[in-house]
Amino acid sequence: MSSVAEAPSQTAARAFQIERQGELAILWFDLPGEKVNKFSSAVLRELSAVLDHFASTSDVKKIIIASRKPGIYIAGADVTEFTTVSGVEQAKSYVTLGQEVFTKLAKLPQTTVAAIDGACLGGGCELALSCDWRIMADSPRSQIGLPEVKLGIFPAWGGTSKLPRLIGLPAALDIILNGKTLDARKAKNAGLVDDVVEPGILIEVAKKTADRGKRKGGGRTKFYIEGNPLARKFIFGKARKAVLAQTRGHYPAPLRAIEVMAYAMSAGVERGMAREADEAAALVNNEVAQNLVRLFFLMEESKKDPITAKARDVSTVGVLGAGVMGGGIAQIVVDKTDADVRMRDIAMKAIGGGMKAAAKIWKKKVERRRMTRGEMQRKLARITGTTDWSGFSRVDVAIEAVVENVQIKRQVLAEFEALAKPGAIFATNTSTIPITRIAAEAKRPENVVGMHFFNPVDRMPLVEIIRGEKTSDVAMVTTAALARKLGKTVVYCNDGPGFVVNRILGPYMNESGFLLEEANTIESLDKAMVDFGMPMGPMALLDEVGIDVAAKVAGILTEAFGARMEKSTVVEKLYADGRLGKKNGKGLYLYAEGKRQGPDPTVYKVLGISKPHPADATAVVERMVLSMINEAALILHEKIVATAGELDLAMIMGTGFPPFRGGLLRYADALGGPYILGRLDELSSRVSPRFRPSEPLKRLAERDGKFYQTYARS
Ligand code: NAI
Repeated sequence: MSSVAEAPSQTAARAFQIERQGELAILWFDLPGEKVNKFSSAVLRELSAVLDHFASTSDVKKIIIASRKPGIYIAGADVTEFTTVSGVEQAKSYVTLGQEVFTKLAKLPQTTVAAIDGACLGGGCELALSCDWRIMADSPRSQIGLPEVKLGIFPAWGGTSKLPRLIGLPAALDIILNGKTLDARKAKNAGLVDDVVEPGILIEVAKKTADRGKRKGGGRTKFYIEGNPLARKFIFGKARKAVLAQTRGHYPAPLRAIEVMAYAMSAGVERGMAREADEAAALVNNEVAQNLVRLFFLMEESKKDPITAKARDVSTVGVLGAGVMGGGIAQIVVDKTDADVRMRDIAMKAIGGGMKAAAKIWKKKVERRRMTRGEMQRKLARITGTTDWSGFSRVDVAIEAVVENVQIKRQVLAEFEALAKPGAIFATNTSTIPITRIAAEAKRPENVVGMHFFNPVDRMPLVEIIRGEKTSDVAMVTTAALARKLGKTVVYCNDGPGFVVNRILGPYMNESGFLLEEANTIESLDKAMVDFGMPMGPMALLDEVGIDVAAKVAGILTEAFGARMEKSTVVEKLYADGRLGKKNGKGLYLYAEGKRQGPDPTVYKVLGISKPHPADATAVVERMVLSMINEAALILHEKIVATAGELDLAMIMGTGFPPFRGGLLRYADALGGPYILGRLDELSSRVSPRFRPSEPLKRLAERDGKFYQTYARS
């Protein structure tokens, strides 16, 4: 390999190396000291110098841009740069720098080919769009797309202006407004890449493609339709409506992207890019983008383990209880890992149910052509069921998901311990019972740990990993590693009833019950919280979770926390009326073929409410959210979770608390401690003493402290 030294002004460790093969140059991107390639200002400047070098080198005719990082082509812009940007001008100069570099690339006299293996996201995709050709390896981690809206911005290094011209307006809108990525085959079908090849021959095919010379035309914009201003207006109008319906106007980035795309379609790429820079720079400093960027870092942080113990290998997993959760857990373990699953229940019928639940998830994948029927059959065959304990002496981790009853859980634990191999972990999926209580009679309590999944298991991204009094570090890291393998975000918790998410949801759900008892209508309560940004209102959530499950959880929390978690009568009355929620098609809402319809008017009679009226949305949000903040202050004080950031991550991933608000405590910090204290005092004297401010909240407010400063990792 001839080295970078060819390029001028190159010293020290560099991100780019040039390998010359006659008139061909392969430009290898390999950011030193990092797992992924990404674009900081410094890296962009280095690329700029390399491109200047090529522009002035007449003996290079073809350039292939490739990555040396396994599984990653280019992850995009370096997000840390976003956090150091202060002010619109600085943001704009970063955006403009990227645009200048990619324009330089697009204008090179040489034929350029992006040889993509692994993730090619955001700025990586925009680099690829600036090459003549794009060839993609068909490897499992290969994906290409523009996820910028997930960080509260939109593609501003040319992506928003260029993509519609390459793949057509509807497909580009879909990718840019939803932050979508495509696998290699879909990208080929969409016209985003020119060819898909086996990873082993990527560079060879890229070389052959480079022989084709500079690209001439080839975009897919159907100008006869999309070039027609009326048709375009229609397409953009529809997109705007869809965005507003989905985001309720809380996320400015997709709306700005639509405007920029509309402008670029008529004014051309160059002017479009100028508009990209103006609009995106204004978004970077916006609170929504800042909150989404913080969330990105919270997620990155959660991937690093603060515990240093080494995780044990897990090749066989046991699942105890084949109900709603057990079936879902068995499915995801087989789907995402190589481990086989042994599932036990007391009834054969239940095993059948668990299998069916797992099969249903895979069937959906088969229908969407994300999996073949053969693959589904092979996966299903890896789950075996039993009503005895056969096979359990081999399991490395047993995930317990039997009924929420401490006696039964202890019994199951004792039976498991009697035959478990040394070191086997018992991970309980209890949603409320302290792990220490479950492990009270255990022979090896160090191997008992909480592994709390959320329902539905395949879709909910959070797992709380809970440390009982005697849980070992190894048990913690082994279950956390398993959860991460399942694609979940892990939040470590200390022990206590309800852990983090369910304990905070306790007062939230109770409050919605009280508000209903006060004759506020079901739909107006739900609308208030959905407008605030929750994915679903509390009434619909109650139906979804199951009124029977909620009754049990509420009972355990009231028993543990007393007056603060005093229950409304709603759940009990509905339960007594035979309403279980969605699962039996009878709840606060009406159901037709399992789909939620309007609210059930007969509920008011069951609850003894004569004249329901629409709620005051501001008052609803205040009561619901402040009661959560009050509980969160106690949770942090009791060290159930280590930091405000982790609590927020748990709430966003576990309940869908609006990401654009940055999380419950980021929202609290924005409101300010003294304000919250004042409102809780007022609610406590006017509505109910259950709003009495907790001691830790009082102390924080009295010194005007912030949750994020007070509860940070030291
Ligand atoms: P479920 O009632 O659907 O399933 C429980 C299963 O356990 C039943 O099939 C039952 O036959 C079986 N079972 C009872 N005793 C057993 C024993 N001795 N050995 C083996 N199996 C036994 O309950 P679900 O909803 O799946 O909940 C299970 C656990 O997961 C509970 O601890 C619950 O708190 C927790 N959880 C539930 C969530 C939910 O939304 N449903 C969410 C997160 C956790």
